[in-house]
Amino acid sequence: MAYFYRYLMTLRRQTLVHFLHKFKCVATRSLSSKSTSMSGGNVHKTAQEGFKQGDHYDKSRPSYSDELVTHVVSSLHKGDYKDTQYDIVELGAGTGLFTRKIMEKFKDMPKIRYLATEPSDEFLSVLKQRSPSVDTLICSATKLPFPENSVQNIICAQCFHWFANKESLTEIHRVLVPGGRLCKYRLFLPKHFFKKMNDAGEKLVEGVLTLYYDDTPRKINETWKNVFDNCSLFRCVERRYLAGIDGMKGDKDFVLNHFTSISVIARLDPRRKEEAVQKFRAVLDETFTDDVEINIPFKSDFYCTEKVIQ
Ligand SMILES: C[S@@+](CC[C@H](N)C(=O)[O-])C[C@H]1O[C@@H](n2cnc3c(N)ncnc32)[C@H](O)[C@@H]1O
Repeated sequence: MAYFYRYLMTLRRQTLVHFLHKFKCVATRSLSSKSTSMSGGNVHKTAQEGFKQGDHYDKSRPSYSDELVTHVVSSLHKGDYKDTQYDIVELGAGTGLFTRKIMEKFKDMPKIRYLATEPSDEFLSVLKQRSPSVDTLICSATKLPFPENSVQNIICAQCFHWFANKESLTEIHRVLVPGGRLCKYRLFLPKHFFKKMNDAGEKLVEGVLTLYYDDTPRKINETWKNVFDNCSLFRCVERRYLAGIDGMKGDKDFVLNHFTSISVIARLDPRRKEEAVQKFRAVLDETFTDDVEINIPFKSDFYCTEKVIQ
């Protein structure tokens, strides 16, 4: 009798896993082929308007250091996978700059169940072109179409500030398994960078870029951290500063392309965008000769948390 009961339980588990797999495929097909450009009301207006030019973004934005990617992988929760749907769900995956890096690490582990999600279908289509084997889904972090306790890890590369609120933390908490991890990381420019460039960095960021921010969330302030500090759903496992990428360097046009890929600039109408570019170029011209190579020395700020059972 006991043997039969165990057999029955195994069958039930297999059926559940089969059902979850089917659910995953259907969700991937139907949701990622939505024709609307963004997933709706829970995405900030600047993100909706500013994350549309996927090719330009993908070419102009920094990638991530091997040190960071290795650290992310080593920080993941490695629990019992049987009754879960995904090992890793990436939120705000954009055009896949981080996805491509982490997939290199997993190339010898084809069984990793990875899902890249993103609310902008223009961005997601670039991700799909560049990483055709990755499962994808259009969705916002504030509404995750997964059952409770079904995801082992959630990762967010340079995007958590867009949904740093109780609504998304509650949703992430719901779908993570007990002990599941939420890791977020961002790239930032260290203070010495601003000093080294004769204050040009300060003028470019504070004097020009800041003018365009209004109520748009910024990753350079620590508002995102207050959201964790004021919420008991997650405990901090680690905060660590790691190497950024080496090679984010080029001429003035390269720096300008980076500038115009930033959402608050990318969303401007052509006239205002041209004005912004002129202001930015004026500071670059004051500071650098045309032949100089400008280095943007990004560093990484890694923050890992774990789901707390209430
Ligand atoms: C700076 S980009 C980072 C993209 C990508 N992770 C990378 O490393 O290049 C921020 C991303 O967050 C996404 N985003 C904005 N609001 C979001 C939300 N509510 N839920 C999920 N993603 C969101 C944007 O569409 C955009 O792709």
